[in-house]
Amino acid sequence: MKAVGLYRYLPIDHPDALLDLDVETPVAEARELLVEVKAVSVNPLDTKQRAPKDTAETTPRILGWDAAGVVRAAGPEATLFSPGDEVYYAGSIVRPGANCEFQLVDERIVGRKPATLSFAEAAALPLTTITAWELMFERMGISKSGAHAGRSLLILGGAGGVGSIAIQLAKRLAKLKVIATASRPESTAWVRSLGADATIDHTRALPEQLQALGEPEVDYVVCFSDTDRYFAEFPRLVKPQGRIGSIVRNARPVDLALLQPKSLAFSWEGMFTRSSFGTADMIAQHELLCEAAALVEVELLRSTLKENLGSINAANLKRAHQRLEQGHVVGKLVLEGF
Ligand SMILES: NC(=O)c1ccc[n+]([C@@H]2O[C@H](COP(=O)([O-])OP(=O)(O)OC[C@H]3O[C@@H](n4cnc5c(N)ncnc54)[C@H](OP(=O)(O)O)[C@@H]3O)[C@@H](O)[C@H]2O)c1
Repeated sequence: MKAVGLYRYLPIDHPDALLDLDVETPVAEARELLVEVKAVSVNPLDTKQRAPKDTAETTPRILGWDAAGVVRAAGPEATLFSPGDEVYYAGSIVRPGANCEFQLVDERIVGRKPATLSFAEAAALPLTTITAWELMFERMGISKSGAHAGRSLLILGGAGGVGSIAIQLAKRLAKLKVIATASRPESTAWVRSLGADATIDHTRALPEQLQALGEPEVDYVVCFSDTDRYFAEFPRLVKPQGRIGSIVRNARPVDLALLQPKSLAFSWEGMFTRSSFGTADMIAQHELLCEAAALVEVELLRSTLKENLGSINAANLKRAHQRLEQGHVVGKLVLEGF
């Protein structure tokens, strides 16, 4: 089957950074599904996994952790899906990714594809939806049925992949007052179109901008950008007893004591925690993706696809990596077909 992979971890402008390959088609076992991949989306995770380092692979490493496709075979213990079912999923970081014609994925982390979306539109959603949903509704304890309606949420990085679905979940399900950051006219317009109540610019001082909105402190802040940069600012931005969530690992030590005077809670989200550790509640991601699909079908959520970069090959994936490495992607970049 066709696949795009790497043997060496190289800068994206190197000719061998990503390669078009021909590899063997795998066989589904246990609870695995063999999915014919129709579309993928690309995340900063792909660029971080591909980042230059002195390691070489003997078998090609296949990246790609967002896909939509059709189940072609199911392992003997699979009960949730059958051949012919249309699905969407992020997959597991400890398994080969989706940049190949046929991928194995554990059915407990797969959702049925929203019936109203194309494969490309569906592929934009899984990784970021799992991330934003788990962070806000599970780790930070925000009610997804509106019990905390009217509370305020600041999203640092509103226009990116995660921000684009987080705005919708926070606004339409949790019914929070959503303030999202965006630094350019295009990204500002995008976050407003997704439902943000207000925007502020992350290239300027944040407290003064919140003050100007009449919201000097928020109940919740979520960080979809540079945790190192924002950590010391959190106590000024959040109300006493408020909650902070981040999905971006800090590179330097942070001073946890800064959060103590206001009794602020801090939550991490790792969307691969369940699949990497095989937690007993791994099937929660299947349920989450199916619930999100139903919300798309009733038009409560919409796809965050912004640009379709063409077929799934090394040249187009390189373009996506280059764009993501520049740090100003709006919504999601998707590739479709081999
Ligand atoms: N832990 C997990 O499970 C998990 C899951 C998913 C993603 N992540 C990580 O979360 C991060 C965000 O992912 P993503 O897919 O949303 O990325 P993305 O789509 O590449 O985000 C791009 C957006 O970031 C905004 N941005 C740039 N600099 C910023 C800053 N200093 N402060 C706030 N926003 C800024 C840009 O807005 P402007 O163009 O307006 O400047 C742009 O729209 C990445 O580091 C990713 O690896 C972690």
